Amino acid sequence: MRLAARLAALSALVLTAVSVGALPSSAVASSLPVASSAVASSAIASSDVASSAAVSSGVEVSSAVSAASSYAISSAAASSYAASSAVVTSYAVSSAIASSAVSSAISASAATSAPSVPLTGEVSGVSYTVSSTYTIYGDPVPTNPPSLATSPTAGEPPYNSGSGTEVGWQTLSISSYAFSSFPVVSPTPLPPVFPSYSPLYPPPVENSGSQIVPDFSDAWDVAFAKAEAFVSGLTLEQKVNITTGEYQEPILCVGNIAPVADWPGLCLQDSPLGVRDTDFNTLFPAGITVAATFNRTMMRLRGLEMGQEFRGKGVNVALGPMMNMGRVAQGGRNWEGFGTDAFLSGEAAYETVLGLQSVGVQACAKHYVDYEQEYKRTQESSNVDDRTQHEIYQKPFLRAVMAGSASVMCSYNMINDTYACENDRTLNQLLKGEIGFRGYVMSDWGAQMSTLSAVAGLDMTMAGGIHLSTPDGGSWWGPNLTAFVDNGTISMARMDDMATRIMAGYYLLGQDNNYPNVSFNASSLYDTVHDKHIDVQADHYKLVREIGGAGAVLLKNTDGALPLNKPRSIILVGSDAGNGAMGANGYSDRGGDDGILGVGWGSGTANYPYLVSPAAAIQERARLDGSSLTNWYLDWDTEGAASAVEQVDVAIVFVNSDSGEGYITVDGNWGDRDNLTLWHNADNLIQAVAAANNNTIVVAHSVGPSIIDSWAENPNVTGIIWANVAGQEAGNAITDVLYGAVNPSGRLPYTIAKALEDYGVFLILGGDNDTILSIPYTEGLFYDYRRFDQYNITPRYEFGFGLSYTTFEYYNLAVSVLPQYDPTDLALEAAWEAGVPTPQGEGSSTAFWLHRPYVQVQFEVQNTGALAGTEIPQVYVHFPTGSGEPPSLLKGFDAIYLEPGEVQTVTITIPRYELSIWDIIAQGWSKPEGSFTLSVGASSRDFRLTGPIPI
Ligand SMILES: *[C@@H]1O[C@H](CO)[C@@H](O)[C@H](O)[C@H]1NC(C)=O
Ligand SMILES: *[C@@H]1O[C@H](CO)[C@@H](O)[C@H](O)[C@H]1NC(C)=O
Ligand SMILES: *[C@@H]1O[C@H](CO)[C@@H](O)[C@H](O)[C@H]1NC(C)=O
Ligand SMILES: *[C@@H]1O[C@H](CO)[C@@H](O)[C@H](O)[C@H]1NC(C)=O
Ligand SMILES: *[C@@H]1O[C@H](CO)[C@@H](O)[C@H](O)[C@H]1NC(C)=O
Repeated sequence: MRLAARLAALSALVLTAVSVGALPSSAVASSLPVASSAVASSAIASSDVASSAAVSSGVEVSSAVSAASSYAISSAAASSYAASSAVVTSYAVSSAIASSAVSSAISASAATSAPSVPLTGEVSGVSYTVSSTYTIYGDPVPTNPPSLATSPTAGEPPYNSGSGTEVGWQTLSISSYAFSSFPVVSPTPLPPVFPSYSPLYPPPVENSGSQIVPDFSDAWDVAFAKAEAFVSGLTLEQKVNITTGEYQEPILCVGNIAPVADWPGLCLQDSPLGVRDTDFNTLFPAGITVAATFNRTMMRLRGLEMGQEFRGKGVNVALGPMMNMGRVAQGGRNWEGFGTDAFLSGEAAYETVLGLQSVGVQACAKHYVDYEQEYKRTQESSNVDDRTQHEIYQKPFLRAVMAGSASVMCSYNMINDTYACENDRTLNQLLKGEIGFRGYVMSDWGAQMSTLSAVAGLDMTMAGGIHLSTPDGGSWWGPNLTAFVDNGTISMARMDDMATRIMAGYYLLGQDNNYPNVSFNASSLYDTVHDKHIDVQADHYKLVREIGGAGAVLLKNTDGALPLNKPRSIILVGSDAGNGAMGANGYSDRGGDDGILGVGWGSGTANYPYLVSPAAAIQERARLDGSSLTNWYLDWDTEGAASAVEQVDVAIVFVNSDSGEGYITVDGNWGDRDNLTLWHNADNLIQAVAAANNNTIVVAHSVGPSIIDSWAENPNVTGIIWANVAGQEAGNAITDVLYGAVNPSGRLPYTIAKALEDYGVFLILGGDNDTILSIPYTEGLFYDYRRFDQYNITPRYEFGFGLSYTTFEYYNLAVSVLPQYDPTDLALEAAWEAGVPTPQGEGSSTAFWLHRPYVQVQFEVQNTGALAGTEIPQVYVHFPTGSGEPPSLLKGFDAIYLEPGEVQTVTITIPRYELSIWDIIAQGWSKPEGSFTLSVGASSRDFRLTGPIPI
């Protein structure tokens, strides 16, 4: 760990209580009835806020500071904090300390205009030095304990300002949230809207969106009772061991919690698309591909079948789903997630968690939060404003929590200069507080930065050691945690909470009841003692093939070039049509791109049992049809390709684009893609083929959007299929689509731009070994389609776009407000309708009334073509002007299968939550003033019906 980052990590944990009630909205909150004890409990229990850390010459010093002798960040300080970090991100801040100190406690005196002199800073004790114009806020100025402040000054905020050099105080808040378990806001469930469910028996899938809001609080209560009983019988060392990953032999899984007493411990294993590091498992289509299906049943079934495989191998915790938001088109791990829209991503997360957990596997929603690029992922600070945080990056996590996710993984990066795994704001206040998450937070592997992260909300450290790869470097927890609890720096109440949350996850999924033992060794397939080579594949290949077909997006189809109809002759061009020279698993963690691309690279992968290439699948079909089939795999020999494709009925060019996790570099791409150009000379190859053959079909297996404008409009390119990364059945899936066995219905889960620059949001590169990169999310809500719409940028293919081999028409839009018959929350509902922000409190953002169906959207869809097919109707809400929202936001979708001529009525409901914006002052969800409208259509730009929302 670099010193600079280390210091920043500790500095994040210093001092003070912040009371949410200090914000102006407290008046609102207390004047409204709340369904449970939620709001009252947000007051700080001062005895719980008892931690501080100091840094002195790089040596950790901790002492207990009681909240009573401490100080709250005043609202002036809070707002200066907001202003300052916006300013700070525009400086060339040379170290984490500087930016952390500056952003947390001071603001340049003219906060709105950045001073021209760059700030420099250093930490001494918990104080900092700033040379610049400054204003320091504090209420009152911290003077106790005096030894921690080198320059304490009394006064009202702002208590000191001027220019020159000032030594001041650094504060970041530790709230009280983590110290006791608390329930989600849960009024008496009123069937059929809020029925009580166990994750083991979840509600059925509803493809048009859930009409019910499952209440898992009874199941959590039962799990907590068992967990508390278990933990109450443990010694401190045993409790610590439940929280600390274990390196002692045998290390069978990527993460292991050792047995404690008669409890067998836990096996945690990657990945979001199948069981990693083993054999006789399925490699499912990646997250981005199932997102492209817009089919909730497929999302659920994929989760369920993956869950069966994890369980079958004895894995307690499956490390998925991954729900980062594809903020930067080049982001290396985007394909593991569900695209760039928070609603779609949230629905996919919700269904995946329900599916995984329905077979008794614990899900792990990751990576929390704002982890959007690979480059310097442990040395970057994502500086995200509160509204964007709530409306985009946090949203899928909220949905995962609503699905009952047992665990959440905090990410490698910092958020506002505080590491995600010791970030009180994101872990305690947002996740456990506002969202009401009752499970446990584990660190990403090596993402823990201090012992005191316990106080900021971390419950489990993975893989356990300070250093990812050298387990003998000790642990922040283990004996260190025992010592901190022993001397009261970390309270026993918090220690109990950590262990209890972890055990509750175990009981919630019924893992105390006949759970299979671990039957593989993740670090060796040749461990004859532990590798039982259990076949868990069942018939899961069928769903893999189905999702691959439904997740392929038909972008262009000139004059019915597709589906293929027994072509006399076919040529497959491009190495992506065949198998790689070294076999499907030739590269470790799929860190190479040779042959058909079925997945990106990194820890988010699995071993292939086999990989069906397009060539193999098309050949079988060609034999049936009597087609003559040949191929040309030399991507760089474009002249050869051009002559090979002459006179052939159809030339299908297979191209791809790859990316992955930053620990592997492929062809110069350090995880993130260097650019958005298709790989292997694809653009030249396509152009050369299209110049020689006027029936050129392009199939792209791409981890995300690529720039295809050099050939997309070429009239000889008669078809384009964007096939995403489809897993082990990639060849069969694309063959189904090419020949019409599957009528394409996939939709783009992101925008394909005409030029990379159009995305407007880019990787932040540069810096040296000690640099913490500032990544200001200055675009706010406006990236991907929200940006293209807002600034009238024409994309090549918009979000939600996808063609079919048939055509659909939409009729008869009717939008109404559903009758509300739940008396418990009438006052809250009325207040919301009047524009009053929702009250604050634990679980306030997941309150059932906020998520119950509210507006009903009804319309008819007809198949007006000659082939049966699936349409994906999408509902986009247009918020009132002045609300600050993008022009259109996806708020509903369905997947409808229709025979030719068939008409179906589609009903989609929208909850209040989806018609709210996050009010940063009130810290609640509110309905903005003005009139709402909505559009129903086939993409984010192809609107067929539009009408007002009568609210
Ligand atoms: C508590 O123990 C830890 C670990 O030994 C130590 O670093 C810290 O200074 C101690 N704190 C107090 C207040 O004694
Ligand atoms: C980060 O800082 C921004 C700007 O001050 C603020 O709006 C946001 O709430 C902060 N987020 C976290 C997690 O601290
Ligand atoms: C806790 O874990 C440590 C390290 O693996 C081990 O040596 C110790 O025996 C464990 N203690 C208990 C009580 O299980
Ligand atoms: C305790 O933490 C320190 C870092 O502060 C580390 O060097 C040491 O190895 C840890 N001790 C153990 C027993 O893991
Ligand atoms: C959605 O997926 C399920 C499961 O694969 C499938 O049976 C169903 O036909 C799909 N729905 C549509 C409308 O295509």
